[in-house]
Amino acid sequence: MTSSFDDLQKKIETRQARVGVVGLGYVGLPLVVEFAHAGFSVTGIDVLQGKVDSINRGESYVQDVPTSVLKPLVEAGKVRACTDFGVVSELDTINICVPTPLRKTKDPDMSYIVSSCQEIAKYFHPGMLVILESTTYPGTTDELMLPMFERPDFKVGEDFFLCFSPERVDPGNAKYQTKNIPKVVGGITPACTKLGAAFYQQALDTVVPVGSTRVAEMVKLLENTFRMINIGLANEIALMCDRMGINVWEVIDAAATKPFGFMPFYPGPGLGGHCIPIDPFYLSWKTKQSGIEARFIELAGYINGQMPHFVVDKIQNALNDHSKPLKGSHVHVMGVAYKRDIDDVRESPALDIIHLLGRRGAKVTYSDPWVPKINADGIVMEAVEPSSAVAADCVVIVTDHPGFDYTGLVKSAKLIVDTRNALKGVESDKIVRL
Ligand SMILES: NC(=O)c1ccc[n+]([C@@H]2O[C@H](COP(=O)([O-])OP(=O)(O)OC[C@H]3O[C@@H](n4cnc5c(N)ncnc54)[C@H](O)[C@@H]3O)[C@@H](O)[C@H]2O)c1
Repeated sequence: MTSSFDDLQKKIETRQARVGVVGLGYVGLPLVVEFAHAGFSVTGIDVLQGKVDSINRGESYVQDVPTSVLKPLVEAGKVRACTDFGVVSELDTINICVPTPLRKTKDPDMSYIVSSCQEIAKYFHPGMLVILESTTYPGTTDELMLPMFERPDFKVGEDFFLCFSPERVDPGNAKYQTKNIPKVVGGITPACTKLGAAFYQQALDTVVPVGSTRVAEMVKLLENTFRMINIGLANEIALMCDRMGINVWEVIDAAATKPFGFMPFYPGPGLGGHCIPIDPFYLSWKTKQSGIEARFIELAGYINGQMPHFVVDKIQNALNDHSKPLKGSHVHVMGVAYKRDIDDVRESPALDIIHLLGRRGAKVTYSDPWVPKINADGIVMEAVEPSSAVAADCVVIVTDHPGFDYTGLVKSAKLIVDTRNALKGVESDKIVRL
């Protein structure tokens, strides 16, 4: 091993390494906190001045990081944030947690990774460990990132170290958070993997080293593709059951009693969030280059994408059964976050449903204890009190936040379309289930 390796390993093991995290969002900020808790001095870098100022005041804007946890770390000088990449020259390690969205054409948008690496490269120095955490296609770390850092006199695995470690955070999950979700890490060389694993072992409970960056990249895509396809299957089964007058929720719950060989996935109004609807298309984009069509992904993407339309058809049919047209009716959407107990509306199917209802002439209101305002996908709305559901011609439960008063809703609402089985076990003529 080289002296760069030995020096950095020592700094990591003694927690003297100066840690940097680029991209201070849902993924980056919890990571900052874990490394600071482990005793490292951590510097966060983000392009948004507002986030940087907020961190430096000790105020969190990420639900999974309470201000009461962040503030003492900032006050103790363990955490600081800035917008200036010049600070990279003082750092030993960098975790990159920037967005990886899709373009409109469903092609990966690598611009955030490229621009942050270009900035890091300006201040890069020998003995650094760089780890990409953003979800991406297999090959990103070795094909795209490595050439941005390597030079003939500056070799990966000897003078600097490069890894990929997929972020698996599940916002709002009280049981599994950054610290106790096992961390997969793969390096460009065995020395890179060794240092990457040693680094995470200081702060996280379980580390799973793998043989290459490509394996680590593929792990994340397998996990999210598995979820997306199985949700697609559950949605297709729901469409079949709807035609045949069978309660799909009862079917899945009964099937889930099988103690082996079955894992329940549930239908719903459509996919949401930053990961499940997006990540599989990183894989299909990449495999197309090798002449392989990712057919399961395309099919599940199609079925999942139809669900908001199916929900709006259900609302229209339910209103028609009560001799009301959808046009001009008041529809109240309960829950707009992409899943329960979080404040995130990215890719939320509620946005599609609100668009479709508006296009068909319905008057739409919404309530969501986590989302006081929507300003996304051309929708600008403010939440109303959940009690407004009483006035609506139809209420549609899109996100099953546990905080909603479902008993009161069943008593007072005129008509309810339940896309999440939030009213499980409640029998009433006014409930229409997915
Ligand atoms: N949110 C999740 O649940 C989750 C889970 C697993 C993996 N991921 C993946 O992790 C990555 C980050 O996701 P996120 O949810 O934290 O995103 P986010 O949008 O919450 O945070 C990203 C941050 O990066 C900053 N940023 C953008 N460009 C930058 C640049 N050039 N330099 C520095 N900062 C920059 C943004 O201002 C933002 O604060 C994505 O690849 C995502 O797919 C997210």
